[in-house]
Amino acid sequence: MSEYQIALIPGDGVGPELTEATLKVLDAVQKRFDLGLSIVKVDAGDECFKQKGVALPEDTVEAIKNSHACLKGPVGETAAEVVVKLRIMFDLYANIRPIKAYPSTPSLRPDIDFVFVRENTEDVYKGMEFMLDNTAICLRVITRKGCERIAKKAFEVARRRNAKKKVTAVHKANVMKVTCGLFAEVCREVAKQYPDITFQEQYVDAAAMRLIKEPQKFDVIVTPNMFGDILSDEAAQLIGGLGMVPGANIGENFAIFEPVHGSAPSRVGKHTANPCSMILAAKMMLDWLGEQHGDSKCSAAAQAVDEAVVETLRKGITVPDFGGRAKTVEMGEAIAEEILESNRLNGGNLLK
Ligand code: IPM
Ligand code: MN
Repeated sequence: MSEYQIALIPGDGVGPELTEATLKVLDAVQKRFDLGLSIVKVDAGDECFKQKGVALPEDTVEAIKNSHACLKGPVGETAAEVVVKLRIMFDLYANIRPIKAYPSTPSLRPDIDFVFVRENTEDVYKGMEFMLDNTAICLRVITRKGCERIAKKAFEVARRRNAKKKVTAVHKANVMKVTCGLFAEVCREVAKQYPDITFQEQYVDAAAMRLIKEPQKFDVIVTPNMFGDILSDEAAQLIGGLGMVPGANIGENFAIFEPVHGSAPSRVGKHTANPCSMILAAKMMLDWLGEQHGDSKCSAAAQAVDEAVVETLRKGITVPDFGGRAKTVEMGEAIAEEILESNRLNGGNLLK
C-alpha cells in the first residue's frame, strides 16, 4: 500500500463544507485504489487567527513540512498571510490552473481547455511596498532564474498535454520594458529549446479580450504572478465560475493544492457552494503524487476522480448555481458513489 501523509487545511467560510465533500471523494478513491492517505488536519486562516492570534502557526508549518503534499481550502481575509507566505516559504514557483469546460456547466463553449502556468513567487507579490513621504512604492521583482523555471515548466506542461502544443506568453513588455522585457526575452530563449511547441506572445490587455473572444485557441498561458491572478479569475467565468477551477502550487519536491476562489462568507451554512474546485484540486494532488513517486495507483485515482466529476455533472447532479438541487456534501457523495460504482461496473474488485 502506498503511504502518503497529507496536511489538510479546511480553511474559512465555505472551506469546511468543501472539505467535507472532498473527503468523501478521497475516501472512495482510497477504497478503490488501496491508497494509504493519512490526512492530518491543520489550522490556518481567519478562524485560526481569532483563536491563536496567528494566521499560519508554527505547528501548521511543521506538519506541512512533514507531509508529502498539502490540500487547502479557501482562506478569508488572512489569505495572503497564509497562501502567499506558503508559496514563497516552500518555493512553489509554478501555479498551475486548468480551465476546462465540464458538462452541465454554464460554459461559454464546450471546447475550452487550457491551463495557466502562473509564476508564483515573484512580481509585486514579494510584498516589497513602502511609503516615501506621501508616495506609495511597490517593487516589482522579476529574476532571470524565476522566468527560466516558469517558462520551462510551461513548455513541459504543453508537451505533456498532448493537445494544441502551444505556449502563449502573456506580458506587458511594451510598457514595463525592464521587468516584462526580461520575462518575454527569457520565454523566447526557452522556446528555442522546444521546437515542437508553437510559441506566441500577447500583451495582457489583448489576452484579457481574447480569453472571451476565442478561448478555445489557448493551450498553455505562461505569465507573471499578478497577471496570472487576474486572468485566472476572468477565465474561470468561461467555464461556469470559480467553483470549477482548481489550482496547484508546485515546487521541486513539494506542492499545495487548493481551489482558486476565496472563502465566500455569504454562503456559509447554506451548503450551496460548488465543491468541484476542491475535489479537482484533490485530483491534481493525486496526479502529482503519482508523477512524483512513480505511483500508477495515484495516477489512476486522479483519472477516476475526473471521470466521476464528468459523469456526475452529466447526470445533472449539481449545486443550485448550475440548476441542480444537490447540497455541497451531496455532490461529494455522488462523485464518491460514481467512483465506486464505475469500479463495480468494470467488474473490478475494490483492491485493483
Ligand atoms: C489566488 C488568490 C491569492 C492571490 C490571494 C488570496 C492572496 O487570489 O490564489 O489567486 O492573489 O494569489
Ligand atoms: Mn486570485
